[in-house]
Amino acid sequence: MKVLLTGGAGYIGSHTAVELLKAGHDVIIADNFSNSKKEVLNRLKEITSVSIPLYEVDVANKEEVEKIFSENKIDAVIHFAGLKAVGESTSIPLKYYRNNIDTTLTLLEVMQEHHVNNFVFSSSATVYGVPEKLPLVEGMPTGCTNPYGWTKLMNEQILTDVAAANPDLSVVLLRYFNPIGAHESGRIGEDPSGIPNNLMPYISQVAIGRRDKVHVYGNDYNTKDGTGVRDYIHVVDLAKGHVAALEYADSHKGTEIFNLGTGNGYSVLEMIETFSRVNQVAVPYEIVARRPGDIDACYANADKAYEKMHWRAEKNLEEMCRDTWKWQSNNPLGYELEK
Ligand code: NAD
Ligand code: UD1
Repeated sequence: MKVLLTGGAGYIGSHTAVELLKAGHDVIIADNFSNSKKEVLNRLKEITSVSIPLYEVDVANKEEVEKIFSENKIDAVIHFAGLKAVGESTSIPLKYYRNNIDTTLTLLEVMQEHHVNNFVFSSSATVYGVPEKLPLVEGMPTGCTNPYGWTKLMNEQILTDVAAANPDLSVVLLRYFNPIGAHESGRIGEDPSGIPNNLMPYISQVAIGRRDKVHVYGNDYNTKDGTGVRDYIHVVDLAKGHVAALEYADSHKGTEIFNLGTGNGYSVLEMIETFSRVNQVAVPYEIVARRPGDIDACYANADKAYEKMHWRAEKNLEEMCRDTWKWQSNNPLGYELEK
């Protein structure tokens, strides 16, 4: 299949590009580089030996997206493009709603005009809100606590409604748990701009000496050691989940939701200890106040993805920590070229 990856220069999109090419698909990337660097394309070429066609466009812009579909016979779209910083979404919600909803609407309209009927969407476990019960199963209640989360849930609703009205359309909604790690080459990885919001990039920047210590947000949660528990998944496993989802979409009509997680929950302290042990690096930390909006624990039941798409995560936490460190230690400043 020829697959358009919106946001394909980003963290998850770039890893998915590698796995799609490996599986024999063709890819095209559309990205406006609002949260990524052009250097990613060079690294992808090193890993795959393929020069991936790039459109530097805003995916909300219909004219620009129209041009991509006119110039290429696209079979499927994987829509990664979106803004994803939870804290920022509460201070500038309009920017999040405009970007994250408009991109989807534009893509759906242009796809309809060009009779492209396979759509895979990057949703998030954040749509489960505060879980009533764990592990999380796809049919459980949803609800959000911040504008970012609402954009994901609203997109799920829009895509479900559009698929219900168009019997030719296939939509796969992927609810990611917490992606970490990097490609085993150490050439592509997560490169947050500014101070990382998420735990793993923070740990690895402390380990490389860019930051003093990890602030552990609270040790009075209702969990094994009092620190927050999450379902961390290797980004390469997650990327392979997209290959499976694409093949699923191509052979099923309608909308389907899948959790992409491992089903295992690890605490913040377990993450710091494992990273430090596997990589033989010091990771100083300090317990500080809770971060507003955080929940005690969140982990997936990922059985549905295995039953219907024959996909499951294979890499363990040690591999996630090792590959994160390989990327971070080989690229201390991420994709910035001057070291
Ligand atoms: P990322 O920021 O690394 O990648 C997103 C890419 O989209 C970036 O390259 C950015 O430049 C691009 N982009 C944003 N708006 C655009 C627009 N209007 N037009 C064109 N390009 C645009 O993020 P990621 O971690 O790779 O996440 C990919 C998707 O998965 C996002 O939708 C995110 O919300 C979702 N998601 C991520 C996580 C996570 O922990 N990383 C968890 C759940 C869901
Ligand atoms: C966060 C987002 C979520 C988003 C996900 C992936 C919030 C409230 N939630 O989830 O919507 O889908 O990222 O992008 O922002 N922690 C620390 N110190 C740190 C950073 C994190 O102790 O410096 C803790 C957190 O309290 C949490 C765990 O580490 O218990 C994981 O945090 P994080 O990586 O930010 O992911 P989530 O909170 O699960």
